[in-house]
Amino acid sequence: MDKSKLTEEIKRLREQRKAVILAHLYQVEEIQDIADFTGDSLELSRKAAETEAQAIVFCGVRFMAETAKILSPDKTVLLPVMDAGCPMADMIAAEDVIKLKKENPQAAVVCYINSSVEVKAVSDYCCTSSNAINLIRNIPEKEIIFIPDKNLGSFVAKHVPEKKIILWDGFCVTHHRVTEKDIEDVRKKYPEAPILVHPECRPEVIGKADFVGSTSHILKYTRESRAEDLIIGTEMGILYRLQQESPNKKFFMLSPHLICPNMKKTRLEDVYNVLTEMRNQIKVDAVIREKAVTALDKMLKFS
Ligand code: 13P
Ligand code: SF4
Repeated sequence: MDKSKLTEEIKRLREQRKAVILAHLYQVEEIQDIADFTGDSLELSRKAAETEAQAIVFCGVRFMAETAKILSPDKTVLLPVMDAGCPMADMIAAEDVIKLKKENPQAAVVCYINSSVEVKAVSDYCCTSSNAINLIRNIPEKEIIFIPDKNLGSFVAKHVPEKKIILWDGFCVTHHRVTEKDIEDVRKKYPEAPILVHPECRPEVIGKADFVGSTSHILKYTRESRAEDLIIGTEMGILYRLQQESPNKKFFMLSPHLICPNMKKTRLEDVYNVLTEMRNQIKVDAVIREKAVTALDKMLKFS
């Protein structure tokens, strides 16, 4: 099937199945084009929790589809490519969290949304990169075990010095590739251009950037900025939306290595196939779901 026929068929099936298609901003262009909503992890979680559709096709990675299923347990949630995972989410298991809690019994566990259902089930709060600072600043606990992203955790710790943050050695393999040298090189090449990075980058990269924020925060910054040239330090899928929103600005990648292979796995054929057969349904154990939803509900209260 050619692309326009595939798009037409997906639209027909979406209507027939009463489905909504959600896509993360790191997805390939054809997927962002077919989606009903594109956004960052927090925005997509909100959409998944609020939608009245009967089915959710989640174009992203596994933890995102699982989060949608936890927040909307009565809906059918489809993940177009089952092995689209997040290596960072696999860097910690529920047993590791239980051990950390025993070692630090007074601390609350805040897990980044990039984590498994089992990890969320043993955590007190969940957060995304959009609301991590706000959530940690406002919860009553003074000691926090932050898992699994040590880079986002260190970024939060700098902004909330009044809290003790215990870190885990996890990281995003994609954002971790950016180095201080990348910043130095790009500064020389484009001295006037602000450098915007995601908090999943290393602390030394964050320290040299002009702005640090989640994908939606980076979008907002570029919309409001007067700069004509901007340097982007997050996964390159975001360039598509940036260019659509600000056609007169020029965007340059901080590093050519900012590509998440898992986010790039989903294609129109995969969306078509899951909608045709209603396969790749996400299942979450009811007992685990019950525990995990508490941490996620708290996350949705913070912007
Ligand atoms: P945000 O969507 O919160 O910016 O997170 C980026 C990310 O790495 C998603 O996997
Ligand atoms: Fe995971 Fe990083 Fe890919 Fe996001 S960009 S899915 S954190 S590996």
